[in-house]
Amino acid sequence: MGNNSIQVNLCSTGKEKPESDQLQFGRVFTDHMFIMDYSQPEGWHDARIVPYQPLTIDPSSMVFHYGQTVFEGLKAYLSPEGDAQLFRPEKNLERLNRSNDRLCIPPIDEDFALEAIKRLVALEKEWIPDSEGTSLYIRPFIISTEPYLGVAPSQQYKFIVILSPVGAYYKEGINPVKIAVENNFVRTVTGGTGEAKTGGNYAASLKAQELVANSGYAQVLWLDGIERKYIEEVGSMNVFFKINGEVVTPALNGSILEGVTRNSVIQLLKHWNIPIIERKVSMEEVYQAYKDGLLEEAFGAGTAAVISPIGQLTWKLEHLFINNGKTGEIAKKLYDTLTEIQYGKQEDPFGWIEKV
Ligand code: COI
Repeated sequence: MGNNSIQVNLCSTGKEKPESDQLQFGRVFTDHMFIMDYSQPEGWHDARIVPYQPLTIDPSSMVFHYGQTVFEGLKAYLSPEGDAQLFRPEKNLERLNRSNDRLCIPPIDEDFALEAIKRLVALEKEWIPDSEGTSLYIRPFIISTEPYLGVAPSQQYKFIVILSPVGAYYKEGINPVKIAVENNFVRTVTGGTGEAKTGGNYAASLKAQELVANSGYAQVLWLDGIERKYIEEVGSMNVFFKINGEVVTPALNGSILEGVTRNSVIQLLKHWNIPIIERKVSMEEVYQAYKDGLLEEAFGAGTAAVISPIGQLTWKLEHLFINNGKTGEIAKKLYDTLTEIQYGKQEDPFGWIEKV
């Protein structure tokens, strides 16, 4: 790591802030952003907070050609006392470095990156919205910027953090969403990049999503890329099923993203003594449980999506209407508890909150 101090260059005129009860996801950005560069022999250097602005990047930058890039997603919440707080940010930064490793990007100093995020959020505190269910979404990302067309790890990068005041990720808000099980395309395979938060995984998911969007499906549920049998994840969230009193979620296998919300849900369920098992879950098993009247709930968990109940799951020609299309008891309790901890309305017995 090179010079670690953060230069701050403030802009004089603020942009107009959107009404917090009108917010969508990821359309509006705050006044400032954080940037740091990487090159040899300096390493990561020149950390700065500057006015939010377009980047000037060479068209031959490697990110445009070979997609060597990683990102993260976390949120800042406003507590009733008016404090800005983050939820388990160290987990996102650990994962960013795991993604870096998979994509051959040099690691960042996690403590320094957390400090930079806190400085930026503190500066933009006025942008944290205060309506129910809103927050300031934090998007750290790294792009490869070396101007070179050879296929090799880039020698130059930029680490950038931008902020966006957001409402619900799905237009359904916290109401149940419709999800289609994907039978033709695959998102990734074990040994691929599925576990890393890298743009290519999301680009690969677009076609399947586009094909079902017109029929009202919010997203697709991916099956494993080899047997096309086992449930993986939704892309913007990990999934959980309550079958006959027990909650099951696909075990991490190298192709599923290790979600921070997933991990928090597992901890909460254990804390409440609700049986939770991480294992392989086949779509056939979920379908059979539905047929037998044992599929009690299904929901997704992710930073952007929070807890999102699944009201309908379509697999081949079968429509599974789960819990009569209503939010289940566990999904509701998880949503309430997680958000109350995140917004500082409930005690945080796990030490998950990091004050800005
Ligand atoms: C998140 O939950 O933060 C994500 O990264 C999902 C997404 C919006 C791609």
